Amino acid sequence: MLPANKLATRVKLVLRSCGTMVLGNVAMDARIAYHLRELEIARNPQASGHAMPTFSESDRAILDIGCGIGQTFAASPQVHGRFLVGIDIDLDSQKWGRDAFGDISFVNSDANTLPFASGSFDLVISRVSLPYTHISLALGEIARVLKPGGRVWLTMHSFQKTWKRWVCALRSFHAKEFVYCSYIIGNGVLFNLSGCSIAWPLNHRYESFQTVSGITKALRHCGFVDIEATKRTSFYCSARKAREPNQGPAFVTRRSPTP
Ligand SMILES: C[S@@+](CC[C@H](N)C(=O)[O-])C[C@H]1O[C@@H](n2cnc3c(N)ncnc32)[C@H](O)[C@@H]1O
Repeated sequence: MLPANKLATRVKLVLRSCGTMVLGNVAMDARIAYHLRELEIARNPQASGHAMPTFSESDRAILDIGCGIGQTFAASPQVHGRFLVGIDIDLDSQKWGRDAFGDISFVNSDANTLPFASGSFDLVISRVSLPYTHISLALGEIARVLKPGGRVWLTMHSFQKTWKRWVCALRSFHAKEFVYCSYIIGNGVLFNLSGCSIAWPLNHRYESFQTVSGITKALRHCGFVDIEATKRTSFYCSARKAREPNQGPAFVTRRSPTP
């Protein structure tokens, strides 16, 4: 097994000017508490909402998009000793993770513009973070930073989840939440039909729901093959970057059986 520093050289990891290595300490806050709860879920296969990627021996350089404190890597002992990079826009969470989990390289950056050289990673994972990005841009960036034949593993937000939140806002007369959930639904419809996303004007961030066919179409559009999308216990999908640019799409979609 190669030491992490040699792997770093091999994957030609290049930080562009927008990437900032994380330094410093921060106090625990609500976001850290959230990430620690997610860490417990990630560690417990019996927990409701547990969804974790599988790692193979050939996955030497792995990128986690929207890594939080690095909980997905921290809950996966089999990846220790590999080259692990986590990106997130939340600097405080990354500072906390840097202090807790020394073997992860945290990079403060937006998923829509990844600060890495093309072909740097064997595997890109992202648990519940892509729904907060401009998905078509983020998938294009994931395809770029993956090596040919590299894999991607993502979890997504279903319409049902957003719908429940919208109904809850309506019942509780929570006007702001109701308007925001209406935006998520509208943005989800737009994404699934056209691949486009619109930012929420108040913070210029994105959020949408996804359908199996919408995310499959978006992955195929970015040059992924062997696409699998499933909505059984959780909504997740995986795909492989084509080895040849003109390798034909061979994708499978699976829907959850009707209960
Ligand atoms: C729901 S949390 C998921 C955290 C972690 N992946 C997990 O499985 O528990 C979503 C994370 O995505 C990050 N995020 C949101 N938008 C992002 C963006 N455009 N680029 C990078 N990270 C983003 C948030 O800061 C947050 O840490």
